[in-house]
Amino acid sequence: MIHGEWFLDLDVFHKGYARARSNEGWHHISKAGTPLYPARYANVEPFYNGCSRVETGDGALRVINEKGETLRTLRRPTIDHFAELSADMVGYWRTMALKTASQSGLFDQLPANQQQLSKSTGMAPERLVRFLRALGELGVIQVERDKYVLTEKGQYLRSDHPKTLVSAPEEYGGDLLRRWERLPAILKGADVDQDIFDEISHDEERVKAHHEMLASYALHDYAPVVPLLNINAGDVVFDAAGGTGTLSSLVKRRFPEADVYCGDKTEITQQQLYDGVHYLPFDLFEPWPICVDKLLLARVLHDWNDKQVALILQHAKAALRPGGELLVLEMFLPKLGFGGGLCDLHLLAVTGGQERSEDHYSDLLHNAGFDVVETVNGGSLVSVLRCRPKP
Ligand SMILES: C[S@@+](CC[C@H](N)C(=O)[O-])C[C@H]1O[C@@H](n2cnc3c(N)ncnc32)[C@H](O)[C@@H]1O
Repeated sequence: MIHGEWFLDLDVFHKGYARARSNEGWHHISKAGTPLYPARYANVEPFYNGCSRVETGDGALRVINEKGETLRTLRRPTIDHFAELSADMVGYWRTMALKTASQSGLFDQLPANQQQLSKSTGMAPERLVRFLRALGELGVIQVERDKYVLTEKGQYLRSDHPKTLVSAPEEYGGDLLRRWERLPAILKGADVDQDIFDEISHDEERVKAHHEMLASYALHDYAPVVPLLNINAGDVVFDAAGGTGTLSSLVKRRFPEADVYCGDKTEITQQQLYDGVHYLPFDLFEPWPICVDKLLLARVLHDWNDKQVALILQHAKAALRPGGELLVLEMFLPKLGFGGGLCDLHLLAVTGGQERSEDHYSDLLHNAGFDVVETVNGGSLVSVLRCRPKP
C-alpha cells in the first residue's frame, strides 16, 4: 500500500517512478502513488531515458514515454481481434449452456458416465455427448477414468458447495437477461420496469435462488474484509438490507461479543438462515426501526440512484447512536480507465442504480451529513468507507 492506494504488486522506485500492478494490470506510478497515465498493461519495464517497453493485453509490444504516449510499436497484437470480438457476441452461449446444465441437475450427478447421465437427465445419448463437449470447452467438466467429473472451477456448480453458483445461470439467463433487453430504451431515459427486489420478494423460488447467489458472492467478497471492520465488544450492529444474512453471520463469527441484526424485506428475513443473527424486517425508504453503534450498508447504495441514496443515508444517520459509525462496503470505479463499466451497465439495466467512484460516494455521504474518516481496502474487490455523522 502507498499513500492509501493498494497494489497487487509494487516494484522499487527508480528515478521517481515504480512499476505497479492493480486489478486492471501493470502501469507506472509516481512517488505520490499516482498513475502516470490511464492505460493498463500485461507487463511494463522500468523507464530508461524516459522510455519504457510495455506489452498490451493483446500481445502488442510498444515503447511509451512518461506521459503514456506510444513512441514506437515493436510488435503488432498477437491476438486475433476478429475472433475475440466474435466470442464477445456469443456470451449467451455460455450462459444458456450453464443454465441448461444447472436446470437438469447434471452437476450434482458427477462423477458419472454417459449412460448414467442420459438416464438421470433424460437427454438423448448422442445429444448429451455434444452437450458434455460444450461443458468441457467451458472448463467445468473433464473426463477421468471413463467418467465425467467436475473440474476445480466446476466445483462451484455443485448445489452443496458453500459458495455455490448453481442458481446464478438461471438468474442471468432468465429475468436479468430480460431486463438487459430493455437497455436501449433505458439508455434513452426510460426507467427500469419494476423494482427487482420487490418482484423477487413475491416469488418464493426466486427468493431462494437469487439470495443463494448473493450469499455466495457475499461469502467470496466479504470474508477478507470482515476482520478489517472496527466493531467492538458490546456493539449493536445492523446489517441494513443484508439479504439472508451472510455478512451478518461472518461479523457475528468474527466479533461474537457484538449483537448483530440483519434487516431486509419481510420475505427475505423470514429465511432465518443463521443462528446468532437477529432478523429484522424493515424498509430502506421508511424510518428504520432500530438505533445502533455500527451500521453496515454492503452493496446496497449501488442499487439506487443518487436521490434514493440521499434518502437511505438520511434514515441511516437517524439510526445511529451517539458515537456510532456507518460502514459502507462497495466496489469503487477506478479514477482512470474503463474498469467496472459492465457491472455499472448491469445495475443501470437491472435496478436503476450505478457503480460509483470513491469520490462520488464521498460526495453523497458528505451531502447527507457524514464525514468519511477512513477508507479501508485489504486488497479485495470491496472497500469500506468508515463514516461518522458530522458533529
Ligand atoms: C444487492 S442486495 C445486497 C444484499 C447484501 N447486503 C449483500 O451484500 O449480499 C440488495 C438487498 O437489498 C434488499 N432491499 C431492496 N429493497 C429494499 C427495501 N426497500 N427495504 C429493505 N431491503 C431492501 C434486497 O432484498 C437485497 O437483499
